[in-house]
Amino acid sequence: MSSNGAEAAAAAMMPHVGMNLEHKGKTWTIIKTLATGPFSEVFEAIDTETKQHYAMKTEKEVGTIRPVLKLDVFVLKVIQSRGITVGFPKIYDAGRTNNFKYVVMQLVGPDLGKLRRSLPGKKFSLITALRLCAQTLDRVETLHDMGWLCRDIKAPNFAIGLGDQAGIVYMLDFGFARRFLDNNGVHVRPRAAAAILGTIHYAPIASHYGRDQSRRDDLESWFYMCLELVAGSLPWSHLDCRRQHQLICEWKQFARKGGRHQMLKDCPLEFDEILKMIDGLRYYERPNYRLISSQIEKVIDRLKLDRYAPFDWQVDNGQILEKAAFIGDLGESHLLSMKLNEARKKRAADKESTAIDITT
Ligand SMILES: Nc1ncnc2c1ncn2[C@@H]1O[C@H](COP(=O)(O)OP(=O)(O)OP(=O)(O)O)[C@@H](O)[C@H]1O
Ligand SMILES: [Mg+2]
Repeated sequence: MSSNGAEAAAAAMMPHVGMNLEHKGKTWTIIKTLATGPFSEVFEAIDTETKQHYAMKTEKEVGTIRPVLKLDVFVLKVIQSRGITVGFPKIYDAGRTNNFKYVVMQLVGPDLGKLRRSLPGKKFSLITALRLCAQTLDRVETLHDMGWLCRDIKAPNFAIGLGDQAGIVYMLDFGFARRFLDNNGVHVRPRAAAAILGTIHYAPIASHYGRDQSRRDDLESWFYMCLELVAGSLPWSHLDCRRQHQLICEWKQFARKGGRHQMLKDCPLEFDEILKMIDGLRYYERPNYRLISSQIEKVIDRLKLDRYAPFDWQVDNGQILEKAAFIGDLGESHLLSMKLNEARKKRAADKESTAIDITT
């Protein structure tokens, strides 16, 4: 076989749209790419027998920069074994072929990053953002109380549910998770050095300095994510993760001093108090998650916001969800409007003719 032929044959063995994966007595048809990342690929797949739709996360057997799937499966199984049913995708199957590993799990809706970018002005309304902050904090608390750190908290690692679950936030992605309690429930001691992990824009300052992370660091990342959910961006969003990580770290430090006002200027004043609580946490300390959520509640009360209002994506006849479903394929942006138009034609129920803003 020519080298081109060999490459094509190898590519055909890897998961791709249109592939039928027959494994362990089941057949899954891959129908859509949901995300392509450095560590894994996520697809939508159908069980050919039941016609149910699932998410299938896959990872190459060789040449993977950092294997994450095994940990993902492990943590999701632990969560499931504890009977936690709200806010974490249910895992159905996991296996490997000669070429890749896969996990089949509950299909959820768009992640919070895609959702935000689908909104006018790429910004959530304040009440939607605050409720997302509260729900994501609940998920982090659940994970921590099981003895695990996430170490990669960011909007794309949380998603909303589908259909009547669209008001529930799911936590995805445990590829960088780490157990911080030993078998006796004792907090493990920090290692002398730890690699910088996760996504630099949200990384805690400790991680920039190669220090080991604990619960307070997850909350620091959670706080940066919340700032972005509320304000639409971070002061360092425009900086390049690879070339300017030092500058990003300096910004985070400056935000504790003279730059505090600039960082918090588009947030409710209670966010200053929340940051104080997080920055005051010690390495081994269990954060007071309730006290932090009570600050979020305080904003809702002070500004007389309606905590029962529908979320931003529940008031526009499904257009935001529709856009978010396509926004993942940024590499195919020339196809975006075409795909959206096709999808809109198919939606018999939706008679709306307003154009959708497809810039991302
Ligand atoms: N169960 C699911 N249902 C629907 N979409 C999902 C599901 N799991 C993941 N996704 C989508 O795939 C994206 C990538 O998934 P995930 O974060 O688990 O993979 P990853 O390769 O570890 O990502 P990264 O390294 O970019 O954080 C998510 O941001 C989300 O948009
Ligand atoms: Mg992720």
